[in-house]
Amino acid sequence: MHIIFLNPQGNFDQEDSHLTEHPDFGGQLVYVKELAHAMAELGHNVDIVTRRIRDNKWPEFAADQESYKSSPKTLRILRFPCGGDKFLEKEQLWPHIPELITNMLNFYGDMRPDFVTAHYADGGYGAALTQIKTGIPFTFTGHSLGAQKLDKLGTNKVNWPKMEARFNFSKRIAAERISMQNAARIIVSTGQEKEEQYSHHLYNDAINSSDKSRFAITPPGVNESIFSTKETELDNQIKPKLEAEFGEDARPGIVISSRLDEKKNIIGVLKAVAETRHLSEKAQIILCVRGIECPERDIGKLSNSEQTVLKEILELLATANIRQQTHFLNIGSQLELAATYRFFAQRGSVFALTSLYEPFGLAPIEAAATGLAPVVTKNGGPSEIFADGSGILVDPFVPSNIGQGLMDGLERHYELSQAAMRRVNEVYTWQNTAAGYLSVIENVGTAKKSNTEEEPLKLDENKRIIKYLEGQA
Ligand code: F6P
Repeated sequence: MHIIFLNPQGNFDQEDSHLTEHPDFGGQLVYVKELAHAMAELGHNVDIVTRRIRDNKWPEFAADQESYKSSPKTLRILRFPCGGDKFLEKEQLWPHIPELITNMLNFYGDMRPDFVTAHYADGGYGAALTQIKTGIPFTFTGHSLGAQKLDKLGTNKVNWPKMEARFNFSKRIAAERISMQNAARIIVSTGQEKEEQYSHHLYNDAINSSDKSRFAITPPGVNESIFSTKETELDNQIKPKLEAEFGEDARPGIVISSRLDEKKNIIGVLKAVAETRHLSEKAQIILCVRGIECPERDIGKLSNSEQTVLKEILELLATANIRQQTHFLNIGSQLELAATYRFFAQRGSVFALTSLYEPFGLAPIEAAATGLAPVVTKNGGPSEIFADGSGILVDPFVPSNIGQGLMDGLERHYELSQAAMRRVNEVYTWQNTAAGYLSVIENVGTAKKSNTEEEPLKLDENKRIIKYLEGQA
């Protein structure tokens, strides 16, 4: 089959440029790239369709077409102009999506694809426009929904004008509703994502989150070429540095790797270590934070919200007198993170992720694939991922419960890490994700070529959101 991955935001290239260094180049692009590769390896013709950018600050994205070195020739990156040549943030793309679709369909002519997988609201909106013109069905994978972001950022009727100016929520929510109404299926990573994200009031009468027939639960995979127990050249390069820092101290680590974001609740792990007897003698704390070598010196480089989180961490480390055994590692890439995980896995370490709420939880899966024993929040995806007991689930709001989980994880490291590795290697592979998508595509059926010109889809939900915010008062 000829399948499109429609992902207007960010961009794709052989070198994975800017990945995780820019808000529009996050984990979703890894997901699209890995899944597209897995589909192409099954023999399908796969196109990743995105926006062409001719901007000397973003030179990697100027070509109309590109292929990955490591992939089958049946996988292409196709870039179509829309909204001019300069880079535009994802929040500014909405008025240009129709132009992207027009240029894409002109390129395909009669050689139209059989199916579209749409990613994020801009992909979903584009796929709905494509379906109106051609009858080609699509799946919608939200990755992240605007309603949760609107709530999480504390949007209310007073700050609405400022929030709308910055995030264009009215366009995004409208695009998400159009995507949910018109997609043949909505792909989610866990049952919780379906129940908790798609049940938001702002999606009422666009989707019924309890209607199982509208959804397919297909979890993402882990990139096992990066996250595995197999050592690489990089392991040998960084081992001397880690030995120098940790050599004498043979204690296992409590490894934490996440953004300095309040919802990740790093402070919960530190409170647990401070409060749990013997835990601070048994283990040291390893905090992997991009860009932070020495927090007291580097804190000024961070955003205000990150500084707030880090200040609270430093204060607790000082009052609990555990600053000495807390090491901040500035990890530059996923490859370096995997090598660091392996170093600590070999010393019987655990991976702690105690987010207040974690929609899915790819990080603990990646850590488990390297041999770390997962001790993770029970709120969200991890409770499904480690439902078989291969990870320890803790209540992120109760430090003593986190402490007990960490002690348990350290004591049972070998048994747990083996079980977690088995679980990940069996279930969370991109081949499994591809099989999940393909069974949906076979079930839905492919293109019904029809040229029905219908009413163009309107993109504005301002009134609905204002009404919702008034109800929030
Ligand atoms: O595509 C870049 C990205 O970071 C994705 O990884 C993620 O799905 C999305 O943006 C998050 O966007 P937002 O924070 O606006 O929900």
